[in-house]
Amino acid sequence: MDKSKPDLGRFVVSLRDEDKGAFKTPTLREVEHTTPYMHDGRFQTLEEVIEHYDKGGIPNPQLDRRLKPLHLSARDKADLVAFLKSLSGEGWQQVKAPGEFPR
Ligand code: HEM
Repeated sequence: MDKSKPDLGRFVVSLRDEDKGAFKTPTLREVEHTTPYMHDGRFQTLEEVIEHYDKGGIPNPQLDRRLKPLHLSARDKADLVAFLKSLSGEGWQQVKAPGEFPR
């Protein structure tokens, strides 16, 4: 929503005003290995993602009210990155992708 012609996300399909700027939250499984992040790939590192959330996202009229400045300490941020990196591992690789996705 910080671009002059933003990608309006789910709104393009639903035409519901509240869906402007809404994007499906991707799985965080293996997130350490799936850079770049967010629908437009604007962040290269998990540290950048955490900084984004710490600031409370980018102010805009569509911003979800659950996104607000967090005032995380350096330790909090490092812990969050460590948590995100813990979401990788063996054991799920045999799971098949669904044949179709919800509309
Ligand atoms: C500190 C708290 C949070 C952390 C650490 C976190 C972590 C992440 C990460 C790592 C991604 C990138 C996933 C990817 O691109 O592969 C992401 C995306 C996303 N998160 Fe969060 N998240 C947090 C809070 C929230 C909250 C509060 C909401 C909803 C109000 C939210 C909704 C979303 C959505 C919709 C996306 C996709 C955005 C896009 O594609 O542009 N997250 N989150």
